[in-house]
Order: sequence, then structure tokens, then C-alpha cells
Amino acid sequence: MPRVFVARAIPEVGLILLRPHAELDVWPERLPPPRPELLARVRGADALLSLLTDRIDAEVMDAAGPGLKVISNYAVGLDNVDLAEAARRGIPVGHTPGVLTESTADLTFALLLAAARRLPEGERAVKSGDWLTWEPTWLLGRDVAGATLGIVGYGRIGRAVARRARGFRMRVLACGRGTIADAEGAEPVTFDELLARADVVSLHAPLTDATRFLIDGDALQRMKRGAILINTARGGLVDQEALRRALESGHLAAAALDVTEPEPLPPDHPLLQVPTCLVVPHLGSATIETRNRMAEIAARNVLAGLRDEPLVAPAPGMSSR
Ligand code: DGY
Repeated sequence: MPRVFVARAIPEVGLILLRPHAELDVWPERLPPPRPELLARVRGADALLSLLTDRIDAEVMDAAGPGLKVISNYAVGLDNVDLAEAARRGIPVGHTPGVLTESTADLTFALLLAAARRLPEGERAVKSGDWLTWEPTWLLGRDVAGATLGIVGYGRIGRAVARRARGFRMRVLACGRGTIADAEGAEPVTFDELLARADVVSLHAPLTDATRFLIDGDALQRMKRGAILINTARGGLVDQEALRRALESGHLAAAALDVTEPEPLPPDHPLLQVPTCLVVPHLGSATIETRNRMAEIAARNVLAGLRDEPLVAPAPGMSSR
């Protein structure tokens, strides 16, 4: 039987698919395998089922050895995998696109509403005894209806967020890597125009060399005073120190982040001391249904790779076998 290293206990539906066809070594801990452990466990593996928390690079591929037939990443994002290196070695890489679109868009909207209506501050006030009475000018947020939402990265998730925004009667601006062919009711604009016009900026771009720190101090200053930033993509898109300054100065009204750099953010991180910054622990795809579907696709990518068949969901731009 081929050997598969599974870098964490994924939902059982995925493991059930794999068990009849492979000898599984599933990393049992809550934390990811430490680097030396990852390198040791992949040795001689025919397939690797990795998570976004595992850096899969030449060293890991070397450790696995020439028998490694497929890398299946349990995520849609692939910034943790050295795709160029895998391509050079002819190792197909799979991921889990499509199935987490709606759950990530839901979480984006949950964050948008929570930030616009100051829910975390309200909850803290209730728990700390600062809720004295109903006050005419206390904890006033911003209206979502009628506000302009700027979506940066208009792929599957960005479009799913735009659909929700229309239901909330928001105006939607969108920008992406190239020209947006069918904007589905959003107004295609440049990145600069989006920053200048949006009341809420929501990030849905992949993390690449080109997008790292896309939202830096300069971009934050070009956002409208009182705007809100939402990030459910990757922490590396945002210069967090510049974000902290923009929030503390009051230039931004609020930020809500599902992703940070690093993850987890240490509890004493300065950003966590800012009352207008809501941070949740990378929950975009965290529903039972979505994580099951991700497990199924990730397992099917492994099985296809082991059989030298085209992957169900190959990394964009890579050969599927
Ligand atoms: C992904 O799949 O890339 C997501 O970030 C997981 O929630």
C-alpha cells in the first residue's frame, strides 16, 4: 500500500476515502508537526496531505524523496506550498477551491456587520458593567445599507461577498489582477479608486510576492477617513503595524481580521489592545459542511495523484498530473 502522511486529523470523511487505498500516518496533535517531525514523517511518503500551517518547500520534498507523487493541500490558498519547486520536480499539487466560497463569504459578512455595528465593543461593555443605560450617542456604528463596499480580489469568494452586499443594499466596487470580465453588478475600478471611494474595504486576493503588504501605510492613508477594513484572505496582505496606527489615530473606524501574521497572534500583540480591531482565529471555512467537503476533495486529490490520474482540483496554472 502507498504511504500517505496526513499533517493533521482532517474530518473523518476524508480519511474514510483514503484508508482502503493507503497506509495513513495522521499527525495526532492539535498543533502542527514541528519542522523536524514533519521532515521525519514525510520520509518515503507517496503522498502528503498538508495544511496551510505547514511550509511545504524543497526541504520537505527532498525529505520525502523521489517517491512523492502528490501534495494535496487542505486549503484553497497555496501560499504555504512552493509551487514552482513542485512543478520543477513534476509533483502535482492539489487544493480545495469552490467548496469554502460561501462559508468564507458568510464570515466576511459577519465581520463586516460586527465591525460596522461595533459588536465586540458592545459585548465587552456588557460584560464589564459599562452598560449603564440606553444612551443616545453611545457606541454608534455605521449604516451598512447605502454604504460602498470595495472588494479587492474578485474571484469566487469576492463575488460571493458581492452577492450578499447587494442584499444589504450596498454599492459594490471591485478590483482584481486584470480586467474584470463579468462584474455581476459590481463596478470595476482601479485599486486606487477603490481605496478612495469605499466605506468598507474587503480583501479576497491570494498572498503572493505581488500582494504582500498590499494594504500598507500608504494604502491605509488613501482609504476614506472612518472606513472599515475586513481581511478574510491572508494576514500577509496587511501591514499590521500600519493598521494599528491607522486605527489608533482614528483614521480607520474599525478593522476585522480573520487572518493575521503570524497565526496565532500572541495575546499581548499590540493590535489586540486596539478596541476597534476585531480578530478571530482564521474561521473562514470553519463549518462542519465545508470542512467535510474540503476533506473529501483533499482525499480525492491524494487518490488521483497516487494513481497518476489528473487531480480533482489542481493548483491554478499547474499541470493536473
Ligand atoms: C483556505 O482554504 O485557504 C482558507 O484560508 C482556510 O480557511
